[in-house]
Amino acid sequence: NQTIRVGLLGLGTVGAGVAQILLDPKGRHPLLSELTLHRVGVRSLDKPRTLSLPPGVLTTDLAALVHDPAIDLVVEVLGGLEPARSLMLQAIGQGKHVVTANKAVMARHGAELFQAAQAQGVYVLMEGAVGGGIPIIHPLKQALGANRLTRILGIVNGTTNFILTQMTQGRGDFATALATAQSLGYAESDPSADVEGEDAADKIAILATLAFGVQVNRQQVYCEGIGGIQAVDLRYAERLGFQVKLLALAQRQGEALDIRVHPTLISQDHPLASVQGVQNAIVLGGEPLGEVMLQGPGAGAGPTASAVVGDVVNVAATLRADSGYHPLLGSGLTTPMPQLPT
Ligand code: HSE
Repeated sequence: NQTIRVGLLGLGTVGAGVAQILLDPKGRHPLLSELTLHRVGVRSLDKPRTLSLPPGVLTTDLAALVHDPAIDLVVEVLGGLEPARSLMLQAIGQGKHVVTANKAVMARHGAELFQAAQAQGVYVLMEGAVGGGIPIIHPLKQALGANRLTRILGIVNGTTNFILTQMTQGRGDFATALATAQSLGYAESDPSADVEGEDAADKIAILATLAFGVQVNRQQVYCEGIGGIQAVDLRYAERLGFQVKLLALAQRQGEALDIRVHPTLISQDHPLASVQGVQNAIVLGGEPLGEVMLQGPGAGAGPTASAVVGDVVNVAATLRADSGYHPLLGSGLTTPMPQLPT
């Protein structure tokens, strides 16, 4: 088996988390030991970094990275629309698989990327784009495939849920809570995408596209953020038996889809009401399943890197599937497979 060489685009919060896992594969999925971190593309070499990388791995030439013939798989964690979109398209054009956590690109240009990938026979995976560490994309595409999905309700932005939780608990005002969320690596580099609900709108557009099999037009997702909410609103809501959450919702309405993001009063009895801090939670409703709720850490280096590297494992496992790899035994089979009688 040949080593799978990974090119990593971005070494911010999530990128550093991804690199850390790839450089320390012991005890994780056996296929991670068969990968190498070949190049890491960054915007500046001067930025101080705590992570120690093998010498010569860092480069500022992102275009050269996606054209490097030695690289099999590009992990894109730059964030933002450009140059992320163009670099992913170039990587696909070079026959490389792409793993991304980029909800902004996938919500707006997902179809373009998937079509390009199909034409090249490569994979584009995006588990890290929604719900941080919660496995949601892969289950939606496969494990829940039996269902006619009718509704998605989610708290899909960790930063705003963290801010609302801090304010509800009287632990500081909006600005202090936002600064804490930024220092913990939850917020986007421009936190207005979190606060104004745009990040959550990207995520619900992606989930609705997958759940309902219709390309959702991101521009048509109604979006209202938490900027107008004050601590007093949260206290009154609590007295009346509600929590205020930035809710992302997508549901079928006859032939149409109703997709929106806005602050919502949620009854204390509803499981989403007790989702605190950076946690995300997503309720999926469908037939015959009924409802299932997935909950977990929705942002930050470790959880998002967990989802991203999960996709890397997924690609590696698919590439290895033809060469005797077994999920439980790994690829180091010591006894030959028994021959079936002919
Ligand atoms: N800024 C995002 C959030 C990061 O707070 O949820 C994870 O997508």
